[in-house]
Amino acid sequence: MTVTDIRKGLVGVIADETAVSKVNPETNSLLYRGYPVQELAATQPFEAVAYLLWNGELPTPEQLAALRATERAHRALTDEVRAAIDLVPLDAHPMDEVRTAVSVIGAQDLAGSGSVMDASGSAEENLARSIRLFAVLPAIVAYGQRRRRGEGLIAPRDDLDYAANFLWMTFGEVPDEVVVDAFNRSMILYAEHSFNASTFTSRVIASTLSDLYSAVTGAIGALKGPLHGGANEAVLHVFHEIGDAENVSSWLDDALARKRKIMGFGHRVYKRGDSRVPTMKAALDTLVAHYDRPDVAALYDALEAEFVSRKGIYPNLDYPSGPAYDLLGFDTVTFTPLFVASRVTGWTAHIMEQQAANALIRPLSAYSGPDERHVEGYVPDTAAI
Ligand code: CMC
Repeated sequence: MTVTDIRKGLVGVIADETAVSKVNPETNSLLYRGYPVQELAATQPFEAVAYLLWNGELPTPEQLAALRATERAHRALTDEVRAAIDLVPLDAHPMDEVRTAVSVIGAQDLAGSGSVMDASGSAEENLARSIRLFAVLPAIVAYGQRRRRGEGLIAPRDDLDYAANFLWMTFGEVPDEVVVDAFNRSMILYAEHSFNASTFTSRVIASTLSDLYSAVTGAIGALKGPLHGGANEAVLHVFHEIGDAENVSSWLDDALARKRKIMGFGHRVYKRGDSRVPTMKAALDTLVAHYDRPDVAALYDALEAEFVSRKGIYPNLDYPSGPAYDLLGFDTVTFTPLFVASRVTGWTAHIMEQQAANALIRPLSAYSGPDERHVEGYVPDTAAI
């Protein structure tokens, strides 16, 4: 193998096929099972998109009702999972808390399941596990934010759909319909994005015939990084640093002189703009109007205009979703856990797809260490050879 064969970061490598989503940077489009994501965001509740990702088709009204009934039945935190969350220090990042909670849920669900040979489970078992994780993650995320604020757990409400109930469990009130709709759209936009780093991580783990919970736990670890899901939190840090639209130019002079990466901009696949941004920006505009925060829009527009004109690098989804989650009232550290609650649908769809046509994912490496050498004084035991 020559060094020119190496694709560092797997740039441009097509690792496998997927029927879950299609990213086309040429046409700037993202399709979930064939449907443009912006159409889904404009028309569907998140539960229907989860169903689509798992099953390949949008649900009939009966299928949606059945999924909703199962989701509602599994929303509440068990005492054991709550106790596990409480073990995580309050000043640890909530992504560590979410990762721990999913790991404990997996250990409980798989208790008594025997040898590792049985770990991967059947397609039916894994669909049921996927729905249960999807159902309980809002409670994990909401409780995480509340306990950091010194507030108590809020029980789910059976009369609310996924998005409204998520906001209820976090804030103890259901906001206006436009706010719930903006949040629902963000969940749909974050749900799936082909072989991104966390999804690929989940497929690598599934490819060893490990279990779905292990694959999701690994994916949460991959999502935490600021080059991936952590960017939505990082965008808010940037906004706080800049403070006001009139500071953008001088802040950017300094940041670029120090070769800083500007969080919320750039993408491995999209080089001319992220297909999800216009839809999320429209949701942000709705929130800006609802909460009467033109200052947020002014800072957003100023940084985007200045950075795009200087570097030709466009915003990604995290750029509008960071300030949108801030306006919704989420703490900055909760933003990436929100991404988990959404992306768990895409991860689990990919895990099941990997399991259905598995090949162990095991690439090669080019060795760059010292030539073969020997431990000083070592005398081979010729009799043992
Ligand atoms: N700020 C400043 N320069 C940038 C940025 C940025 N946000 N993004 C790319 N560049 C520059 C980079 O410095 C490099 O310049 P040069 O060729 O002079 O060294 C060039 O553009 C190519 O960058 P790259 O890092 O090699 O490109 P990549 O495809 O490996 O990286 C990325 C993609 C997302 C890691 C990168 O754009 C980045 O770090 N962005 C900031 C973090 C971020 O917003 N991440 C969220 C990604 S989208 C949501 C998700 O998938 O989770």
